[in-house]
Amino acid sequence: MKTMMASVPSPGISPLRQALQIGRHQLEFLRQNRATHGDVFSLEIPNEPPRVVLGHPLDIKEIFALRPERYYSADQSTHANIGERCVLFADDEKHRSDRSLLSPPLHGQFLESYGPHMLECTESAIDRWLPGTQLLLQEELGHITLRVITRCVLGADEEPHQERLHALITEWAEHIYSQSLFTVASLVGLNRMRRFLERKTDERREERHGLCPYPGRKSTGLKAEFMTILEEDVEQCRKERAEGRDDVLARIAVATYEDGELMDMHTVLDQLTLLFSAGHETTAKSLGWAVRDILERPTLLSRLREEIADHFGDGPMDPSACRRLPLLNSVIKESMRLHPVTALVQRELTEPLDLRELTLVTGTVAVPSNYLAHRHPDYWERPDDFVPERFIDLKPPPHVYFPFGGGRRKCLGATFAEFEMPIVLAAILRRVDLAFVPGVAIEPVYGGVTIGPSNGLPLKVDAVRAAYRFRRQGRGH
Ligand code: HEM
Repeated sequence: MKTMMASVPSPGISPLRQALQIGRHQLEFLRQNRATHGDVFSLEIPNEPPRVVLGHPLDIKEIFALRPERYYSADQSTHANIGERCVLFADDEKHRSDRSLLSPPLHGQFLESYGPHMLECTESAIDRWLPGTQLLLQEELGHITLRVITRCVLGADEEPHQERLHALITEWAEHIYSQSLFTVASLVGLNRMRRFLERKTDERREERHGLCPYPGRKSTGLKAEFMTILEEDVEQCRKERAEGRDDVLARIAVATYEDGELMDMHTVLDQLTLLFSAGHETTAKSLGWAVRDILERPTLLSRLREEIADHFGDGPMDPSACRRLPLLNSVIKESMRLHPVTALVQRELTEPLDLRELTLVTGTVAVPSNYLAHRHPDYWERPDDFVPERFIDLKPPPHVYFPFGGGRRKCLGATFAEFEMPIVLAAILRRVDLAFVPGVAIEPVYGGVTIGPSNGLPLKVDAVRAAYRFRRQGRGH
């Protein structure tokens, strides 16, 4: 006998408290509800449609197999003014055609051209780390991945252009993902807040902006400013047919849909904003967890260093070869299994859907949780233990293991991130000895969209060895 929606177990606290729990103690909230209610429970957020969290891989399989007309993107429940026209909020045919235009520069042979930049961004960060000092590794990783995005995605190669964009994006992210703005947005509705900020950003760009204060005002000014910079760049690429450029912005600027049309300017800008927002913090936090997991296991650290040394000897590292290091890549996968930085994805149903033990009604937002699926005892041996070797010969099905989401909406940057992470990690492990700061506990903390290690992951720098620089060729090679 299947349950109807009304009888799905609920967390038993007000919608506002549920939103705040999701914002502040997401993993604990998921764990507790699973312990009390099992693999399926409801989640209510003020001013948003009813949600049902799914932790069982068989239910999740049904969601990822849904045909596009059977769900909306569910607005993604974010208050950040990423840009209404980006692929994250698109559905059906628009979603398909935008993905196929955006996908090539983030895959295949194009990745190879980003490798040297990824390594260089990491090496230059390491060059600034001083032995005997303490650093907040999470911040450092954030700088590295943001530099990778500004260089490989936005094509900013030279100062002061690169510095300006870097500073603008960092400041925008600080404002938009502040805890206070999230709390206000939870009260008024996340999606409603995003549309409001989006409207205000457009007004600022059109210089129709008043002086009246409102929550998130600073973020709209910053966003308007970086959109203006990106717009000039896209225009220039279009004029010069992206001559000599090897970055994602340039490739998207001149790419056409199947009917031969270019993407309109506002949509290009929204896509770029999405790419850099979705692409740097997620990667930095996944790297943060991997470093934490490695440092907790000195034997694993030695084995990883041996693997890197066996591959590259004393010579420079070939960035493209890093994705072929079996242990390193298994460690990254296992770390993302235990600490997925985005623990929930969502789909709003346009038709009723039968799952194993319940029927979801039209309008429900189904919320598959990788955090719950990745630790499901029916699918994983020793689910809570860190065992990277399990990934050496294992390719788990996409509804059992999905740190990048799944189905037609699976992360567009997954291959890019899987290419980047072993490069950054290998460079750090090769050159730097890091150690935990005694007495500082590292817990998961939610930072507006992603879950990373707390306190900025403070570490001691015990030693920094000389750089094994990859000889970089000029732009466009
Ligand atoms: C370790 C790093 C990353 C993680 C863990 C991650 C995770 C995710 C997740 C969970 C989703 C939602 C998928 C779904 O709804 O099923 C997503 C979507 C997306 N991600 Fe990533 N991501 C990462 C890196 C990146 C990078 C580097 C980029 C781009 C440069 C990127 C671009 C996107 C885009 C454009 C979407 C929206 C896809 C769509 O709606 O069709 N991500 N990501």
